[in-house]
Amino acid sequence: MRRFLIAGNWKMNTVQGSAESLAGELAAAATSEEAGVEVLVCPPAPYLIPVREKIAGSAVRLGAQDVYFEAPGAFTGEICSEMLQDCGCTFVLIGHSERRAIIGETDQLINSKVRAALAAGLTVVLCVGEQLSEREAGQTEAVLDRQMEGGLEGISEQEAAAVVIAYEPVWAIGTGVTATPDQAQSAHEHLRSWVAARYTPEFAAGIRILYGGSVKPDNAESLLGQPDVDGALVGGASLKGNLFIPIIDAARKLAE
Ligand code: PGA
Repeated sequence: MRRFLIAGNWKMNTVQGSAESLAGELAAAATSEEAGVEVLVCPPAPYLIPVREKIAGSAVRLGAQDVYFEAPGAFTGEICSEMLQDCGCTFVLIGHSERRAIIGETDQLINSKVRAALAAGLTVVLCVGEQLSEREAGQTEAVLDRQMEGGLEGISEQEAAAVVIAYEPVWAIGTGVTATPDQAQSAHEHLRSWVAARYTPEFAAGIRILYGGSVKPDNAESLLGQPDVDGALVGGASLKGNLFIPIIDAARKLAE
C-alpha cells in the first residue's frame, strides 16, 4: 500500500521566528512514525537549520524547495544537494510551476536537477501541471507527458524509486480554485499509466502521486480519497498549523 505524503511548501514565506514556531507545531502534531502517513516540510533555505532543530526527534521530514545540479564550486547564489543534506534535508521539490513560469526553468534544467538530487540520495518531488489555457485547449495530458518525459529522461527504474510526482494544475495554485476530485483523479490516473508505460506496471503501482493546488482542510478528504491521489503538496494552507494539521488528519483517517 502507498503511504500518504503530506508536504508543506512554505514558498518565500516566514521569517525565522514564524518558521520556528510553525515547525514546533508540526513536530508536536507528528511525534512518531506512522505506517499510513508521512509528513514533510519545505521551508525557505535560510530556515532549514532552525526548522531542523525544531523538528528533531519528531516524524516530520525536511525538504528544500529547489536545488542546483552542479557539484560545489563557482555558482554564485546556488545551493547543491550536498549542502541540503548537510542541513538535514532528505527531500527536495524540483520543477515547481513557479520556478518554471517565473524563473524560466526548462524540462532540461529540471532533468539535470533531478539527476543530481537522486545521485546524491535525496528523494525528489517532481512537480508537473498544466496552465489553464492548456487545459482549455485540451492539452493537459500532452503537457503532463512532456514534463514527465523531460523531467525523468535517463532516470532508471531503480533511481526513480526515490521519485514522488506532484500533480499541480497551475490554475489551481494559490487561487482558491481547486481541481475537482474527478479532475485530480483523471490526471493522476493518466500520470500513473505514463509511469507504467515508461517503467513497469508494478513500479507504477508503488509510485506516489501527490495533488497540489488550493488544498485546504475542507477539500483534503475528498481529494485524498481518490484512488490515485497519494498525498498533497500544500502551499498557502501549510503556513498555518490549524490548517495544515487537519490535512494530515484527513490522510490519517483515510489510512486507517
Ligand atoms: P497552494 O500552493 O496550496 O497555495 O495552492 C500549492 C503549491 O504551489 O505547491
